[in-house]
Amino acid sequence: MQKVYPQLKSSEKPKNLNSKPIQISPKKSHTSSGEKNKSNQAFDKKTLTNKNKETNLTNPNKNDEKEIRVVTVRNELFFKDNLALLKEQFQSKWKDPPTCPRVSDEEFDKLKVLGEGAFGKVYLVRHNKSHDNKVLFFATKVLNKEFIIRSKCKDHVLTEKRILQCINFPFLVTLYYYYKDSLNLYLVTEFVEGGDLFKHIKKLRRFSESQSKFYSAQVILAIEYLHSNGLVYRDLKPENILLDQWGYLKMTDFGFAKYMLLHNNQTNSSGRTWTVCGTPEYMAPEIIVQNRGYDGSVDWWSLGVLIFEMCAGYTPFRGKEEKEIFRNIVGHSYTRSSRFSDDCADLIENLLQNDVRRRYGCLKNGVTDITHHPWFYKLDWESINNKTFEAPYKPVKEDIKEKIETIGELKLNKDAKDIL
Ligand SMILES: Nc1ncnc2c1ncn2[C@@H]1O[C@H](COP(=O)(O)OP(=O)(O)OP(=O)(O)O)[C@@H](O)[C@H]1O
Ligand SMILES: [Mg+2]
Repeated sequence: MQKVYPQLKSSEKPKNLNSKPIQISPKKSHTSSGEKNKSNQAFDKKTLTNKNKETNLTNPNKNDEKEIRVVTVRNELFFKDNLALLKEQFQSKWKDPPTCPRVSDEEFDKLKVLGEGAFGKVYLVRHNKSHDNKVLFFATKVLNKEFIIRSKCKDHVLTEKRILQCINFPFLVTLYYYYKDSLNLYLVTEFVEGGDLFKHIKKLRRFSESQSKFYSAQVILAIEYLHSNGLVYRDLKPENILLDQWGYLKMTDFGFAKYMLLHNNQTNSSGRTWTVCGTPEYMAPEIIVQNRGYDGSVDWWSLGVLIFEMCAGYTPFRGKEEKEIFRNIVGHSYTRSSRFSDDCADLIENLLQNDVRRRYGCLKNGVTDITHHPWFYKLDWESINNKTFEAPYKPVKEDIKEKIETIGELKLNKDAKDIL
């Protein structure tokens, strides 16, 4: 799928769009026609109980809602400690990014194209000088220097490289090498063989809620990690989420990610950014309506779109052209799919809040409003974080020996316990 960074024509600009640069990544379209809009069904409140770790959780957005939910919660202490450790690691790397071993293009054989972007292609490559137990296969993103300079995206590319050099998280891709020649810059990351989530949603038409929950949990942990390190991701969508051979996720493509902290670890005066960038269907209203700038809130909005797309098989805000998509986003015009459970619909609704002051992830309790939501009732966050939980689906290897054929179908993993 080609990724482009066009300037929107002035006639296509949504209202209130100022003169800041707009960089748009296209969203692949599903072939299925999707569901016809049905009127929103009222959220049917439920009380969930669990004997182990229980908490009373009220919905912070619904002050008048007296009902108390009882849900199993994530052990916040474990995640707080874990994030603090990882933050220390990230910060020292950010100050002085580690260098990768020197390599050149001759050391890699290009095997096939995995994806295509505006600056170039992503290739599956084999390191021909590898020996012993060293990793043989990688994914190389080739970025054309001339195009980067022409499209004034040098900063984005340098940031993408620096972020890849510094991150270390189970659900984010790892950079192994980078090198350049007179034409291109090469980012060599681990090859994630299961294909991207977009392809799998298309094949299966949609994911079950328990499958979606498993993926959402990993995305939430990854966003939490990025935000805790001062990074806003800004391009969450199924095309940028890859499945590994165990059925776990790896997020890739940090082309739009931004580091928001200054040297003293403080945010700039406003702690906000204004660049209009992302994938239209996934863009938060505060990116489109440029009056206050935005921060990590945009990733929580995109999470709402992602959960919607995984469970429904199509995105909530659609349109024939960008203008229409933007109008629907800003007007909060979307309809819940009749397939959604009430808890799923409720979480999506609380993420797709146009008012950032009411959006889950951005409130006083931060990410815990999401992780403690009843949709994640009983989810074993720790074992997902540690990857000790068997994935509900595993990609089927078509050619284990050569890995050249990327994995095709997703098959139900019979060893997996039900998520809930
Ligand atoms: N490490 C990887 N392993 C397997 N497939 C990958 C990997 N990285 C990328 N891909 C595939 O290539 C596609 C494009 O990669 P990526 O999102 O990084 O670049 P892009 O968005 O096309 O390019 P750009 O951001 O430069 O415009 C992905 O959607 C995915 O299908
Ligand atoms: Mg991409």
